[in-house]
Amino acid sequence: MENEIRLQKYLANNGILSRRKAEEAILEGKVVVDGKIVTELGTKINPNINKVEYEGMLVKNEEEKVYVLLNKPIGYVTTVKDQFNRDIVTDLIKGVKVKLLPVGRLDMYTSGALILTNDGDFIYRVTHPKHEIEKTYNVTLRGIIENTQVEELEKGVKIEDYITKPAKVKILKIDNEKNISRIQITIHEGKNRQVRKMCEAIGKKVLALHRAKIGSLDIKDLKIGEWRYLSKKEIEKL
Ligand code: URA
Repeated sequence: MENEIRLQKYLANNGILSRRKAEEAILEGKVVVDGKIVTELGTKINPNINKVEYEGMLVKNEEEKVYVLLNKPIGYVTTVKDQFNRDIVTDLIKGVKVKLLPVGRLDMYTSGALILTNDGDFIYRVTHPKHEIEKTYNVTLRGIIENTQVEELEKGVKIEDYITKPAKVKILKIDNEKNISRIQITIHEGKNRQVRKMCEAIGKKVLALHRAKIGSLDIKDLKIGEWRYLSKKEIEKL
């Protein structure tokens, strides 16, 4: 598995013991992984998943936590490995030494704000349905949207067997000549392809979808394909 490292390396990386002392400690039965004593030197652990204890004390993963905000272009897949060899979002983040994972996902044909990090707890917290943070999408629709359709989106629509929670919807532009509408939808949820499905539910086809904001983080300072580090303050705010 990709994120796995040897137990003795994990102990050494986190300043607990030298590599040699860590090996001795493992052989002596002083190291516990997820509640079980481990005495095999070849044991690998995933620092984001497994809980490691040495002499009864939790060994925290001190790898520096990195948070990145990317303005994802369309055509990129939100994954770290793609079986079809398509372009993946992590290809765009050059020069970062740690392994980054996307926080939630954007469809291949959706552009805009995407956070990536090596902080597994952060991913868990931010994507947990209980804390789903506000996300704002700019949507281009074929046809002219009616006020009643805006109200439907706001109140909640049926997508498969699910009724969406109340959303905020703003009309940005109606273009009668081109026969398109541009709207802004803000939701707290993150169901698969939710915005596209919500628009389908009111009989409108999405021509373009762009995530403009995650919480208070606005992507407008970054050009498509650009990224930047997030500050501690920005992370705390989320
Ligand atoms: N809703 C969608 O339909 N697609 C996305 O990528 C994000 C939200």
